[in-house]
Amino acid sequence: MKFNEAVIDDPKWKRGYGEFYDLLLGYTGTDINMCELGIGGGGSHERWSQLVTGNIVGVDIKDSSVYVASVPDNRFITYWETEAFTPEMVKTIKGHDVRFVIDDSKHNTLRWKQFHEHYVGHFPILIKEEIGRNIANGTECIEQNQIIQAIDNGWTIYSFTDDPLDKMSDKSETFSRRASVIGVYTSAINDFWIDPLEHRRVTKDNIDNMIDGSIIKK
Ligand SMILES: C[S@@+](CC[C@H](N)C(=O)[O-])C[C@H]1O[C@@H](n2cnc3c(N)ncnc32)[C@H](O)[C@@H]1O
Repeated sequence: MKFNEAVIDDPKWKRGYGEFYDLLLGYTGTDINMCELGIGGGGSHERWSQLVTGNIVGVDIKDSSVYVASVPDNRFITYWETEAFTPEMVKTIKGHDVRFVIDDSKHNTLRWKQFHEHYVGHFPILIKEEIGRNIANGTECIEQNQIIQAIDNGWTIYSFTDDPLDKMSDKSETFSRRASVIGVYTSAINDFWIDPLEHRRVTKDNIDNMIDGSIIKK
């Protein structure tokens, strides 16, 4: 199954990230282990367990009381009540031989830096969802200076903030993609797999146009 063929209520798909994740899995293959930081209800981990055949590693600072998903037990490696941003946890996750790590834990402007500080150099591919996100007047937005700092630190940024309802099966539902921006950090020299997303790439020159209506300047 492809990520972008989702028919279930999947927040990542609603954000438009399926386009990105299908390219990623096309590159890594599906016979891999992966890790996502932040389990919560477990929806994403369940989704990943349908997409890859290897182990799904999850870390959450809280306990499992809100977990409602059904990830196959024999492939779900969980660390509940565990802080994800420590050298010990990085070492533990490395031990599970994961091809990529997604950070879907707290979304605030500084979280990508914490992810960068602890995880860069230890994994081939890192993905920060909603990179540089903040809330202004009760609405999601992306802070421009955070994106610029991330670019300066080697992150590649892709925006999915356009056409919010285009890929929704139920067009009556509204879902804001205002903060649907992904940061990718890879150690590969030639990231050919990501080339089809060039039209979504955010640079310092096009940032105002690319992050549709939700950029804030600080
Ligand atoms: C957005 S939810 C994750 C949702 C989940 N990925 C999904 O799609 O169903 C964020 C989760 O990250 C956890 N979290 C926040 N800060 C964390 C940290 N420093 N270390 C580990 N987990 C953290 C929270 O407890 C929360 O359950």
